[in-house]
Amino acid sequence: MIKISGLTKEYAMGKVKVPALREVDMEIPRGQFVAIMGPSGSGKSTLMNILGCLDRPTSGEYCLDGEDVSKKSDNDLADIRNKRIGFIFQSYNLLSRVDAASNVELPLIYRGMAAGERRARSIRALESVGLSKRSQHKPNEMSGGEQQRVAVARAIVGDPKVILADEPTGNLDSRSGEEIMVIFQQLHEQGITIVLVTHDPDIARHSERIISLRDGRIISDEMVEEPLDAREIIVGMPEPGISA
Ligand SMILES: Nc1ncnc2c1ncn2[C@@H]1O[C@H](COP(=O)(O)OP(=O)(O)OP(=O)(O)O)[C@@H](O)[C@H]1O
Ligand SMILES: [Mg+2]
Repeated sequence: MIKISGLTKEYAMGKVKVPALREVDMEIPRGQFVAIMGPSGSGKSTLMNILGCLDRPTSGEYCLDGEDVSKKSDNDLADIRNKRIGFIFQSYNLLSRVDAASNVELPLIYRGMAAGERRARSIRALESVGLSKRSQHKPNEMSGGEQQRVAVARAIVGDPKVILADEPTGNLDSRSGEEIMVIFQQLHEQGITIVLVTHDPDIARHSERIISLRDGRIISDEMVEEPLDAREIIVGMPEPGISA
């Protein structure tokens, strides 16, 4: 599904070049659930931004779903991003002035979909993340965990083949984080390819494979023998609002 080879990214800081990725090779088969770990500054977000077609490599190749995206125009990249990829950020990135349903609809507006179908799909996506009752709430009327679930609904509303999530649980308490992992594991069961960046080894162990970066290079790449099941873990956790 994802194949990169010799991927290098350098940022220009004035006259100095900052290397963020150095000749990275990586292959992720369709439907795999991968976690990317590594210390701050190791290149995780840089890699995710390239995988998500938000940024371009300095050199190297990136094939998504059999297509070489390294040479595409900006318009084509925007189209690929909109139709094939769902992106989730640590800071939710929701529009604060509009309600959950309108936030989730956004990617469909860019596709030129009719309002009625847009709304129907948005409501369905919110239902699938357990937020059918929050469709008319604005972001500041929801908890962080709920806002992140709105962001997940927005990422999946267009039926992407790939979900890219950069520290999606980084701002959340452990129960809300686990709720996000329940959703990711369900998406994985549906065959969606997921790449998740996390600092938290317990979160990483919900995936099938852990790739570690350091100084812009892959330093380890291991399969997870028995991935943690978020649905099992959540059963043992205190309800929100009840202190443990
Ligand atoms: N826009 C930019 N301009 C210049 N340098 C950048 C830019 N973005 C990232 N870098 C540099 O590239 C390297 C990799 O950064 P990146 O954001 O990918 O790290 P990260 O692994 O995501 O870190 P964190 O865990 O803190 O999010 C760092 O040295 C960083 O300072
Ligand atoms: Mg980062």
